[in-house]
Amino acid sequence: MITLVENKEIEKQYEYMEKVKQKVHGLKYFINTMGCKLNENDSEKISGMLTEMGYEETNSFENANLVVFNTCCIRENAEEKVFGKLGELKNIKAKNNMIICFAGCMSQEPHVIEKIKKSYSQVDIIFGTHNLYKFPEMLYNKLESQKKVFDVWDIDGEIFEGLPIKRDGSTSASVTIMNGCNNFCSYCIVPYTRGRERSRKPEDILKEISGLADEGYTEIMLLGQNVNSYNGGDGYNFANLLRDIDKIEGIKIVRFMSPHPKDFSDDVIDAIAECPSICKVIHLPLQSGSTAVLKAMNRRYTKEQYLELVDKIRNKIPNVSFTTDIIVGFPGETEEDFEDTLDVVSKVKFEQIFMFIYSVRKGTRAETMPNHISEDIKSERFNRLKALADKITEEENIKYIGTIQDVLVEGISKTNENMLTGRTRSNKVVNFKGDKDLTGKEVKVKIISEHVWHLKGEIV
Ligand code: 5AD
Ligand code: SF4
Repeated sequence: MITLVENKEIEKQYEYMEKVKQKVHGLKYFINTMGCKLNENDSEKISGMLTEMGYEETNSFENANLVVFNTCCIRENAEEKVFGKLGELKNIKAKNNMIICFAGCMSQEPHVIEKIKKSYSQVDIIFGTHNLYKFPEMLYNKLESQKKVFDVWDIDGEIFEGLPIKRDGSTSASVTIMNGCNNFCSYCIVPYTRGRERSRKPEDILKEISGLADEGYTEIMLLGQNVNSYNGGDGYNFANLLRDIDKIEGIKIVRFMSPHPKDFSDDVIDAIAECPSICKVIHLPLQSGSTAVLKAMNRRYTKEQYLELVDKIRNKIPNVSFTTDIIVGFPGETEEDFEDTLDVVSKVKFEQIFMFIYSVRKGTRAETMPNHISEDIKSERFNRLKALADKITEEENIKYIGTIQDVLVEGISKTNENMLTGRTRSNKVVNFKGDKDLTGKEVKVKIISEHVWHLKGEIV
């Protein structure tokens, strides 16, 4: 069920923001964000609150008086990195009179909190994914009392509306439509760190997106762990939401991630087909191409059902393409299982594959499964998958050469200041010469060459 923080609670946080502002002069913050787009969106909210409290952003630890680690725990190596960095900060903490905050998914893991309490006394504030909106209050208490503030909830937090947000992109904005996940894929820690599914109200989402359109944003990325089980109440579902967003003037491209194949209804497929602004590149996480592995992963679809879904979508939406997530080396994955994954990849010809080596997560069901795969085999399979993916990308890219594409201009290229960069409707990066005033506009570009990660073109 949806619980909303009453406005009273948010008003209270605005009062804390004002109180902190009175105390803070000329101080700088730095947010170290790890992980997925949902975490990036949370960081934009933390950034919004800090800006409201009078802090200025800096892009390095060294210059910061306040640091926030917005952590991710989806794979193992992130933990080592964040603890390494915390260790390094010990030295500059005193010099900068630095406040160190630890937030995000890792702070929902009890063993991480224990480790910080035992060995990382430099951490001043810990908050979790459920009580992020209380950050101003925690910061105020820390500044007042100089005592540590550790506050993590293991119950599903409320959906907070109305907090300030400082966004990163110039033309594209992320909008979280739901929090949490009910799926319990056996490898995944997210249901434990983000809690059960809670959807925002449709009117709050639509108001936010209309506001973004008024501010000049043209592209929206809808975020949630399982967007197609969005439940706006009274039968209002993800397809309804897509149709309503499509009507908002000024929004040219709407993307979403991630849907779950098992919940991909005909209604959603029709909405994508009918709404011009909904991007025709669909992120459809496969995870594995083997029915046996999918069963052990608790994904609730077979190899055949996944391929049938792809076919059904292709039949209804001309020129659709797919991106995906794949895990290699899940416990018990045999050579034949892995070949099934390669088979699906060859058949679907994904535009892009986000590839992950299976990494054991404490407390998940896969942790105690038999037949964990050796690191050697995992990396050998990873490399074979990557080689196949690169070959397909090249073959698909070549098909673009000579075609004319509608490209939404994102701005000056980060790697070459004489070039503009943008994306085709199929989400391919295209670099081309042009005036920077074209940023935010859609232009026609003829593709002249391919370079694996991007295409090169000329405005026509
Ligand atoms: N090991 C490796 N990859 C994982 N993912 C989630 N959990 C794990 C894990 N334990 C991947 C999945 C998911 C993506 C966001 O991260 O592919 O879709
Ligand atoms: Fe994790 Fe599965 Fe939920 Fe995605 S759908 S967040 S992989 S449990």
